[in-house]
Amino acid sequence: MTSDPSPSVSRILGIETSCDETAAAVVVDARQVLSSVVSSQIDLHAQFGGVVPEIASRAHVEWLTPVVAQALVEAGIGDDHVDAVAATVGPGLVGALLVGVSAAKALALVWGVPFIAVNHLEAHLYAAFLEEPDLELPLVVLLVSGGHTLLVLMEAPGRYRLLGSTIDDAAGEAFDKVARFLGLGYPGGPAIDAVALHGDPSAIAFPRALPDEPYDFSFSGLKTAVVNYVRKHPDVATEDVAASFQEAVVDVLVTKARRAARELGAKGLCLGGGVAANSQLRERLLDACVADGLHAFLPSRSMCTDNAAMVAAAGWWRYQSDGPSPLDTGAYPNLALPTI
Ligand code: KG4
Ligand code: ZN
Repeated sequence: MTSDPSPSVSRILGIETSCDETAAAVVVDARQVLSSVVSSQIDLHAQFGGVVPEIASRAHVEWLTPVVAQALVEAGIGDDHVDAVAATVGPGLVGALLVGVSAAKALALVWGVPFIAVNHLEAHLYAAFLEEPDLELPLVVLLVSGGHTLLVLMEAPGRYRLLGSTIDDAAGEAFDKVARFLGLGYPGGPAIDAVALHGDPSAIAFPRALPDEPYDFSFSGLKTAVVNYVRKHPDVATEDVAASFQEAVVDVLVTKARRAARELGAKGLCLGGGVAANSQLRERLLDACVADGLHAFLPSRSMCTDNAAMVAAAGWWRYQSDGPSPLDTGAYPNLALPTI
């Protein structure tokens, strides 16, 4: 069963529960963010050193209704002013996704508005558009999160060419694992980012993995190299290890993104995903764009990490091409980015 495919949709309530953020937002025409509420579960998971799926699902059940209510209040609208409800349906933790998908479908049904299924990775691609509506295409997007590392050529809304991805760990996963090994806590990315400020990035020459495919990435060897180095040099300064590790990750990410933009004639380079909040990555990407005459699109840090404004924005674009999603849509933990 689907809702009426014809109504024009402007004001979208977005819902995001794919991992450990419970988020809701109201966005107009994929451009104007009326509200964006994010309730982070970091404190609940920190003691376990990573996200515990069962705890994440339960916390979403507890927090989603107040978070949605707050998003509507902050947007200054009643539930009779929502034109559609969009929710992340994958990829992510299945139990966590089901909470948001079920709530979104129920709200859409009760309010008599379309439900829009959103791919979390596609949502990250739209985060930059919310802040820079006049982004020029084609763009090379480096999507770096806890679960994914993708290099994508965005040719038009909905038209993505997958250039490369990680063959083992995601960039964020590497940050989290190395931070845990160094005793810096969870989540590891922000912790390494902060500690690295006080270290020397050239102190240790960690390896830069170069997989056969020119735009693919590999980070598990780097993680092993960090572990081996620290075991061999127990007195090394943690700040130097963090800074050198971060330098190795950023070097590979920026080199490949830059090469892709040059070889494919992109107008600019864009960052997305939680790791895009990394200060060194942002600085180096900006420098590369200035040197190569490319536009750099760096969403604000809160727009890089998981949020529902990007879900509402991606939902608006999806609705333009596909119309409403069926109400028997489920949750898809391994959903891939729809590429051409
Ligand atoms: O996109 P995101 O919020 O959730 C996923 O969809 O995975 O990304 C979370 C990831 C985590 O691995 C976290 O350590 C990393 O993004 N991260 C960072 C920074 N802030 C978050 N990595 C490096 N530097 C940061 N400042
Ligand atoms: Zn994400």
